[in-house]
Amino acid sequence: MQQAVVVKSPKAPFTLESLPIPTPAKGEILVKIHSVALNPISWRQRAFDVLVDEYPVVLGSDVAGVVEQVGEGVQGFKKGERVFAGLLHGGFQQYVAFPVAIALRIPDNITYDQVSTFPVAFPTACVGLFAPAPIGIGLNPTFSWDKPQRGESALVIGSGSVAQFAIQLLKFLGFTRIIAYASLRHEAYLRELGATDVVDRTAVPLEELVVSPPVKVVYDAVGSGFKTACECVVDGGSIVTVSPMPISLPTGKTVAVSQVQGYYYGPDVVGPKRNDVVGYLAVPEHTTFGKVVMRELPELLAKGVVVANPVEVLPNGVAGVIEGLERLQKGSVSGVKLVAHP
Ligand SMILES: NC(=O)c1ccc[n+]([C@@H]2O[C@H](COP(=O)([O-])OP(=O)(O)OC[C@H]3O[C@@H](n4cnc5c(N)ncnc54)[C@H](OP(=O)(O)O)[C@@H]3O)[C@@H](O)[C@H]2O)c1
Repeated sequence: MQQAVVVKSPKAPFTLESLPIPTPAKGEILVKIHSVALNPISWRQRAFDVLVDEYPVVLGSDVAGVVEQVGEGVQGFKKGERVFAGLLHGGFQQYVAFPVAIALRIPDNITYDQVSTFPVAFPTACVGLFAPAPIGIGLNPTFSWDKPQRGESALVIGSGSVAQFAIQLLKFLGFTRIIAYASLRHEAYLRELGATDVVDRTAVPLEELVVSPPVKVVYDAVGSGFKTACECVVDGGSIVTVSPMPISLPTGKTVAVSQVQGYYYGPDVVGPKRNDVVGYLAVPEHTTFGKVVMRELPELLAKGVVVANPVEVLPNGVAGVIEGLERLQKGSVSGVKLVAHP
């Protein structure tokens, strides 16, 4: 048996329960989870009953750990290897079984805590910026390392996990002006990642933010910044937003938009068990570009080209997830990714 944080029915509280350790099915690996990172989506799944296909459910997406057992037909991974993955759910427990097709190997130079910050937030930044339409704005569909957007300008709204990866990827693309709209306490760190300018979000309300001259790309990493993004982007430019809500395109400007979904695989690889799950918007194109992400991400990590989010480790093993999600829901987490050690 193992400990797990469970939601027993729609909108029920998170509770600590004892559950059987799963057995890996054909094509699956069983992973002993060392680190699981918390994302805003996890509290939203419970609070709004979205992206859940059956109850009781163990939520939690960003897992890193060790292969404990391989299921029938699994090739390329063996017991004892360090892996990480982004799951639809199953991370808030001590052991999880998932298809080997979505597992990535952890490079030697990176810890479980560090790598657990990547699986949801990194594809959210990378798919939105790099992948071709309809899932991204197509800045680097072949994943060139040769700075294909050299000299361009961008605005990133936010300073959290997704924003930190977006800033690093814009730098990787060769952008030479990267404006971050963020709290000034994050200024030094965001500049380390690649921001060239930081606009204090406590001094300038989001609705009043103006950048001059307008930028080629805006990444709205908070979800409430689409209107501002439309004001700040140049005619012919592009916007990525993390918001799935309906949007109104600007008048008088032609703008390419991605309402990004942070998946590196689509329903053809792993989807929910039912096809009517509210909020599940992955498409087969996520699998196509996801293969590129799975190929390139370990190398980006090994070479230190993209670094992990700063981490705060929660106390109390898997039970620590409950307090961490409460803090995320209250909006009282700033500049760090919360990570639990199941
Ligand atoms: N569409 C997708 O597939 C997808 C995937 C992942 C995440 N998301 C969404 O993307 C958003 C960000 O996720 P995350 O993981 O990066 O969250 P996070 O790490 O928790 O970052 C949130 C931070 O953003 C900053 N912030 C909040 N409002 C802001 C504003 N108006 N302007 C500038 N900064 C602001 C705050 O920093 P300070 O308080 O320190 O200023 C806050 O701590 C969430 O809404 C999440 O649900 C969507």
